[in-house]
Amino acid sequence: MLVKTVFELQNILKELKKSSKSVGFVPTMGALHDGHLGLIERASLENDIVVVSIFINPTQFNNQEDLVNYPRTLDKDLTLLEEKITNYLVFSPDTSEIYPANDDFQPIDLGHLNNILEGKFRPGHFQGVVHVVHNLFKIVQPQKAYFGQKDFQQLAIIRFMNKKFGFSIEIVACETLREPSGLAMSSRNIRLSEEEKVDALIIWETMNFIRDNKMNFGPSELKEQAIQFFDKGRLKLEYLEIVQADNLLEATDWQESTVCCIAAYCGNVRLIDNLLF
Ligand code: PAJ
Repeated sequence: MLVKTVFELQNILKELKKSSKSVGFVPTMGALHDGHLGLIERASLENDIVVVSIFINPTQFNNQEDLVNYPRTLDKDLTLLEEKITNYLVFSPDTSEIYPANDDFQPIDLGHLNNILEGKFRPGHFQGVVHVVHNLFKIVQPQKAYFGQKDFQQLAIIRFMNKKFGFSIEIVACETLREPSGLAMSSRNIRLSEEEKVDALIIWETMNFIRDNKMNFGPSELKEQAIQFFDKGRLKLEYLEIVQADNLLEATDWQESTVCCIAAYCGNVRLIDNLLF
């Protein structure tokens, strides 16, 4: 079922909650692929009803061209969902529904999380994500919300804001789904040619290079080698960092759980990926 307004959605959810139905929530920007469907199917199993939001959030795009080029495939998304699950609602609102005139959102300080990795290269991006997820959480008020590890830093920021705003929603982290080739599924992959999809595999290969060599080198030495490895491919690297998984600060040894995060341009498509060690 497709719902366009907050009023309509909240009326439906009120009735469901009256009969003690549990609500899971999967926020998306649409152009759904198997990565999204993994989250949605899990939410569908763990809750009586899943709200899937499809909203291309303008405030998180620091690059207007990226916003304009973002794929919009609502009809196809609805068909995909219909084929896969039964206990769901799609919430696909206009911008004025998410950002009403009486929006009472107050930005929060995200600390170092806002200035590293994605935050460094996409100024304002995470403030936009926090704003939209805050407003969506307030509208949907789910028991559980599902996010992909594909966006590792986003997940950390969602956990942080969930606490800071006192939502007490259970945040469920879901593993990154990949094509058989290793390419992480992403809505942006639609914009890659077949040749570019092959070029993009250097991301997966580089992360594996790090995993396979971590016994022999420390993180900072291996990072330099990994950058050289990556640069043999055809993508333009924006950053490659090896950080501690719990706080995203630079890893100085392999004792903690670490994660390699990469952002790179394949043609004019910006791709991100990460691998936990
Ligand atoms: P979007 O890029 O559409 O992603 C929606 C959710 O799907 C995010 O939690 C993301 O991490 C997850 N996801 C994307 N690709 C995945 C993959 N290959 N495997 C597993 N999960 C994957 O992330 C956003 O939208 C937006 O920032 C949003 C949170 C909706 C706020 O606007």
